[in-house]
Amino acid sequence: MKKIVILFSGEGKNLHNIIDTLHPHQCEVVCAITNKARAKGLEGLDAKHIKSEILEHTNFSSRETYDAELVKLIQSYNPDLVVLAGFMRILTPIFTTNIKAINLHPSLLPKHKGANAIEDSFLSEDSIGGISVHFVNEELDGGQIIAQASFEKSENETLQSFTCKIKELEYQLLPQTIAEILYKL
Ligand code: GAR
Repeated sequence: MKKIVILFSGEGKNLHNIIDTLHPHQCEVVCAITNKARAKGLEGLDAKHIKSEILEHTNFSSRETYDAELVKLIQSYNPDLVVLAGFMRILTPIFTTNIKAINLHPSLLPKHKGANAIEDSFLSEDSIGGISVHFVNEELDGGQIIAQASFEKSENETLQSFTCKIKELEYQLLPQTIAEILYKL
């Protein structure tokens, strides 16, 4: 069975969706790691028998020293793939050169990189919204795109309805893409 580690920072809806969809029959989620001790996504992991680790970035003096410790922690689980599901950190080459990872981003990359992608794409002139799964490299939201999904903006779209459509697509595309990547490994 292929092993994955998932990194997250907040709600953890995608984390739990991956667990519910893929674990333990299509892959083993060997650990969920967060940089935030109060991340909501931590709730419910014990009940699902998923190991979790908290590695707070605030305890480190630089991005490099944090990433070095994160790499060590990830490697101790020996995963086949690392999935960034709402992990809101800029990563240094210490991470990107040592860890094979994919990231979920709520826009049709290369458009709307960064932390406010949903609002940026909602407010843009674009007639479609969408999501991307891409390999992680040293450029923020810049690695090779693996899969994308999109939808037409409706005439009476609100930020709330737009966000719901993004989330729905995320819950389908991310587990599917993980399964496809692991199958090919
Ligand atoms: C998701 O919408 C994901 O696309 C986004 O964070 C959210 C996490 O939600 N990621 C980024 O914006 C990365 N730049 P979740 O914690 O409920 O899964």
